[in-house]
Amino acid sequence: MNLKSKDLLTLGELDRKEFIHLINHSIRLKRDSKRGSKARPLANRTLAMIFQKPSTRTRISFEAGMFQLGGHAINLSYGETQLSRGETIQDTARTLSGYVDCIMARVYEHGSLVDLAGSSSVPVINGLSDSFHPCQILADFMTIKERKKRVDGLKIAWVGDGNNVCNSMIYGCALAGSEIHVATPRGSEPDSSVVRECRRTTDVVLTTDPARAVSGADVVATDTFTSIHNKDPKRVKKFYPRYQVSGGLMEKSREGSVFLHCLPARREVEVASSVIDGPNSAVWDEAENRLHSQKALLLSLIRRA
Ligand code: CP
Ligand code: NVA
Repeated sequence: MNLKSKDLLTLGELDRKEFIHLINHSIRLKRDSKRGSKARPLANRTLAMIFQKPSTRTRISFEAGMFQLGGHAINLSYGETQLSRGETIQDTARTLSGYVDCIMARVYEHGSLVDLAGSSSVPVINGLSDSFHPCQILADFMTIKERKKRVDGLKIAWVGDGNNVCNSMIYGCALAGSEIHVATPRGSEPDSSVVRECRRTTDVVLTTDPARAVSGADVVATDTFTSIHNKDPKRVKKFYPRYQVSGGLMEKSREGSVFLHCLPARREVEVASSVIDGPNSAVWDEAENRLHSQKALLLSLIRRA
């Protein structure tokens, strides 16, 4: 299925049908890959990847994914390009559009991605900005579908920082038809315009109480308290220990609940080791699923071009 939107910048571009298609296609691609599929639908296609920030999962899963689909990925750190010497994003976008079939970029300011997408004729994928992380949430809902056999009618709890991953998670919940309860300290809530938009389709509950958010939840998710763009080392004090996903907090969730963390994790800070390594944790499937869900995304974006 080709997506209606040329680009994936927030997750909010998708409609429910496209979102469900991507999840189901990801699961099929994972199964095919385990069976040794030799299909190469992206032969002769190229992805350019631009990183302003470090990455392990995003970089490697996109590169491995393109290779497995028969295509090629070019990894560029920001400093290796003329962007670092002041060439504009718009001029870079026009140039890259003549060489490659898709651009994935990890940036600080979300507006840089909007500019990139606006000036490129090929699809642009957000590989994380200060505001959104849509690829992570595709993998998260794929993991939820694998574990719970459904994505709708669930209670999803987010505990900690109302950050980039949380903003895209709220879009994901609205698309999936699941309610989301977000527990953050005051001042660290998710983007208010995302909350407002998603409240038109699902319950988005904001609280300062982690126990209230997690009570009876089917899924409990968290992320670091200090994202790459957070430069204040004292920031963690705002969250720790109250917003740590501890064994005690997880006990308030529904039996058989799933724990998610996009990784990298700071063990014993936002999550106890007993939780991330415990029976409810799906974090390694979640990390692996980045590969499969991004393959589905690349197929839906690049084939239309
Ligand atoms: N979850 C995630 O995006 O990981 P990386 O920062 O390692 O890419
Ligand atoms: N919120 C984190 C996610 C890393 C994958 C960050 O922006 O650093």
